[in-house]
Amino acid sequence: MPARLKKPDQKKQPSVSHLLLRWYDAHKRDLPWRASPDTLANPYAVWLSEIMLQQTTVAAVKPYYEKFLTRFPTIHALASAEQQDVLRAWAGLGYYSRARNLHLCAQQIVKTYQGQFPDTYDLLKALPGIGDYTASAIMAIAFSKYAIVIDGNVERVVSRLTRIMTPLPAAKKEIRACLETITPHKRCGDFAQAMMDLGATVCTPRSPDCGQCPLQPLCRSAHAQDVERFPYKMAKTARPRRFGHAFVVLREDESLLLRNRAETGLLGGMSEVPNSDWMPASQTVSPQTILPLKVKWQEAPERVKHIFTHFELDLTVFVATAPIRQGPPATMRFVPLDQVMQEALPSVMKKVITTGLRALGLKHAIRGTTRVAPRKS
Ligand code: ADE
Ligand code: SF4
Repeated sequence: MPARLKKPDQKKQPSVSHLLLRWYDAHKRDLPWRASPDTLANPYAVWLSEIMLQQTTVAAVKPYYEKFLTRFPTIHALASAEQQDVLRAWAGLGYYSRARNLHLCAQQIVKTYQGQFPDTYDLLKALPGIGDYTASAIMAIAFSKYAIVIDGNVERVVSRLTRIMTPLPAAKKEIRACLETITPHKRCGDFAQAMMDLGATVCTPRSPDCGQCPLQPLCRSAHAQDVERFPYKMAKTARPRRFGHAFVVLREDESLLLRNRAETGLLGGMSEVPNSDWMPASQTVSPQTILPLKVKWQEAPERVKHIFTHFELDLTVFVATAPIRQGPPATMRFVPLDQVMQEALPSVMKKVITTGLRALGLKHAIRGTTRVAPRKS
């Protein structure tokens, strides 16, 4: 039996899982990767959605998810795709190592398991890109097996429910211990997703709607009326800033100079415009020393700022037009403007290109270049 949060001397209370699952049956969100009742969840769909949702909001993921599944309807289709095609379908979602690992993971599952996802935690966790969260989520949601699933929403709900005074991330142990007492053995996947839905729609970071919450009768912080103090968090350290220069070169035939990033490291294997190293201090450089082309450089009036997980980037953009006879420097290529959007461009590079083209007076040359999937806070 799942334990209760209230002391046993009180009147018999329904358990957290009972209240939560009843609420979920009436209020669950209709999400494209969720199986309808009485149908089996598709592990491929569950895995894909959980990887996409790790750093990105549900609203931002939905269109990517559907496009991705149309493009790669099965794990076999994904495994045999070119990496560039996978990165392209991911472009704009950020954290591109997720896409590279997704591709590797699909290949490994096809090779080692004939395309069937293994259904134990340990075998799942041994696959590329699958950590504790994803392995647990797949176990619970795709295979209806008992697993403790903890994401940011779950952390918030549990810290409020039990008024955990330890700040995150140290509180993770207590959160797990609490979930071990309240996670049911039946409908474990529904329980996990119900926690997430509750966190996303009722027990929200700001102004949670405790009046509509099925767990209110059991919730310690709602009783104490100090809900918004939870979860306690360690003060964040400021992100360091880095500076660099990026070069938007438009040839007279309306093609743009691009190159590929190195396979490994940040944004590995993606496309970009030529740019300098990203350094801790701002420097004045002459574009000619970094990209020696016989063109007239102009500094764009706007700079591009972009926030990565571990630093903020501040790029000065230089623009130039090149004559039709201009060949690309070694390892670079000119790509027609109307094909630039099919490149695997990270969001920061989309911003750079939009800024550069605007500086060159081409306002609407590329549509959709600044679409960026919002990150989870
Ligand atoms: N966030 C991450 N995974 C989710 C899921 N399966 N349902 C709702 N929100 C989620
Ligand atoms: Fe969150 Fe309020 Fe529900 Fe407690 S009662 S779980 S604080 S929404």
